[in-house]
Amino acid sequence: MTDKLGDLRRTHNCNELGSEDIGREVVLMGWVQRRRDHGGVIFIDLRDREGISQIVFNPEREPAVHKKAHDIRSEYVLGIRGTVEARPEGMANPDLKTGAIEVMVHELKILNKAQTPPFMIEDNIDASESIRLQYRHIDLRRPKLQRNIIIRHQAAVAARNFLNGKGFLDIETPVLTRSTPEGARDFLVPSRLHQGSFYALPQSPQLFKQLLMISGFDRYYQIVRCFRDEDLRADRQPEFTQIDMEMSFVGEDDVMQVSEAMVAAIFEAVIGKRPELPFPRITYQEALDRYGLDKPDLRFGLELTDISDIVEASGFKLFADTVKKGGMVKALNAKGCESFTRKEIDDLAEFVSIYRAKGLAYVKVKENEWQSPITKFFTEEERRQMAERLNMEPGDLVFFSADRAKIVNESLGHLRNHLAGKLGIIDDQSYQFVWITHFPMLEYDETEKRYQAMHHPFTSPVESDDAKLESDPADVRSRAYDLVLNGSEIGGGSIRIHQKDLQIRVLEALGMDEAEYTEKFGFLLSALEAGAPPHGGIAFGFDRLVTLLSNGTSIRDVIAFPKTQKGSCLLTNAPSDASKEQLDELGLKVNLD
Ligand code: AMO
Ligand code: AMP
Repeated sequence: MTDKLGDLRRTHNCNELGSEDIGREVVLMGWVQRRRDHGGVIFIDLRDREGISQIVFNPEREPAVHKKAHDIRSEYVLGIRGTVEARPEGMANPDLKTGAIEVMVHELKILNKAQTPPFMIEDNIDASESIRLQYRHIDLRRPKLQRNIIIRHQAAVAARNFLNGKGFLDIETPVLTRSTPEGARDFLVPSRLHQGSFYALPQSPQLFKQLLMISGFDRYYQIVRCFRDEDLRADRQPEFTQIDMEMSFVGEDDVMQVSEAMVAAIFEAVIGKRPELPFPRITYQEALDRYGLDKPDLRFGLELTDISDIVEASGFKLFADTVKKGGMVKALNAKGCESFTRKEIDDLAEFVSIYRAKGLAYVKVKENEWQSPITKFFTEEERRQMAERLNMEPGDLVFFSADRAKIVNESLGHLRNHLAGKLGIIDDQSYQFVWITHFPMLEYDETEKRYQAMHHPFTSPVESDDAKLESDPADVRSRAYDLVLNGSEIGGGSIRIHQKDLQIRVLEALGMDEAEYTEKFGFLLSALEAGAPPHGGIAFGFDRLVTLLSNGTSIRDVIAFPKTQKGSCLLTNAPSDASKEQLDELGLKVNLD
């Protein structure tokens, strides 16, 4: 490599040079961002990961080098030696860090040629995401992605520095392992030495980090890859990264305090702003009551209000019957939105139907009346009570949802976020953190007809609730907590079960019999008998955190080589077929019928 470069040794990055360097001889290496031919003189913007310098080829001063520069095209890789000069009067570019100078080239090495790139190396391009992912090595040259990857690095460094300083040990855990239930499907890896048996890739290091506490390591962390075969969305990837932590002899407050301080250190290092500590805490129930979702965006109001008691005896059969059947009616007052058109309101009804809402009743509050298809069903007293509770004033538009609690909360919760976006009331410079606590321990799965762990089966129940594990499982609250930032769940954890008996009761509440829990979790149960300290921890979704730090919207923009929504890597074309020999060795047959 150095041979080819000869005596060209890089002296500076492309963003480093300024007026103080005028007269200095420098060597730069980089890619051709742009080439302009101004009647003889050739200007090139030379780019590296740090920025851009303008380099100049002058036919009168350096005729031989100038001649060679004619061959240069976009994305060629150059090494140049030249002298830093002030740009001529009026030619300085204040938008560019190196805009006051240019480099007069007297030696040029074309280190490599390049095909014309499939899209421009700049931020605002209209290339489809699939083209970008197919040519990810080129896509990653764009300034925004370069910046995101650097932010990701800075965030990881800040997390490590913080945790190292607090006495956490970085300990690796296996990637070829057994199923760790975090609520998704496992990725399986067939074993050649044990044909017919499979490793599972970890959905998280959950059980290993608990075992490390039992081994006495006290404070563990790892920036670790996790694998989950689930339906992908903008904020999910099949392989993603966690900042994973576990501590012994702690309660909720300890884990939350360390987490807050770490998040603050990351924000300070990356964006130079420390969020205010401590973060507010609300219970899961309060989050659902006020915001409909367990990951509320607190950058705006638009809270939900339960009006079931007011409409229960009303003449609007739909609302009254829903409440009588155990459902609920909630409302959202969109202040000042009375001027929404019929079409806008229909679109919102269409939007909530994604969340299985069967309709979206509304009232437009006019100066002297309510304009709505449903006004006629309510008595004056009912209207007065609604107006008071919902703070209804002329100019308002109030939406109503009636159904089972889950559907009402989900549809109005998402409507709340959607409306805030539509109304442009979200301050995108603001970071609103909130802890959600006291999640229910178990959730009834309608399709499987059994309870599932809302967090994972190793989460401890709230002590006063654990007697209800057998009698009233739906009512048991857990010692789990999630950290939510701007409506995105960026972390979740819990205080764990450290007693074998309680762990068995929880596994039984999940419908496992002795044979099943012994087969799946015997190693954990035995470890819990070996002197397990009280312990707890948390894992942060590192990709989501970096997405928010970079003010982005897609997790794929902060991962160097992400997968598509369908789980493919368009660059390498993974997943791909296995050869017959490979399958035979593994004792596998593909059956695609
Ligand atoms: P949990 O399942 O809540 O907890 O995961 C922790 C955090 O990881 C992020 N996350 C994801 N990010 C991108 N793509 C995904 N598919 C994905 N799934 C989850 C989220 C989430 O908050 N072992 C427990 C932690 C513990 O109890 O300590 C766990 O994995 O930001
Ligand atoms: P309908 O009687 O079906 O014309 O409905 C009257 C109004 O109630 C319409 O605005 C519907 O969108 C609305 N609506 C229907 N079902 C529900 C529901 N489950 N919750 C809230 N509004 C509903």
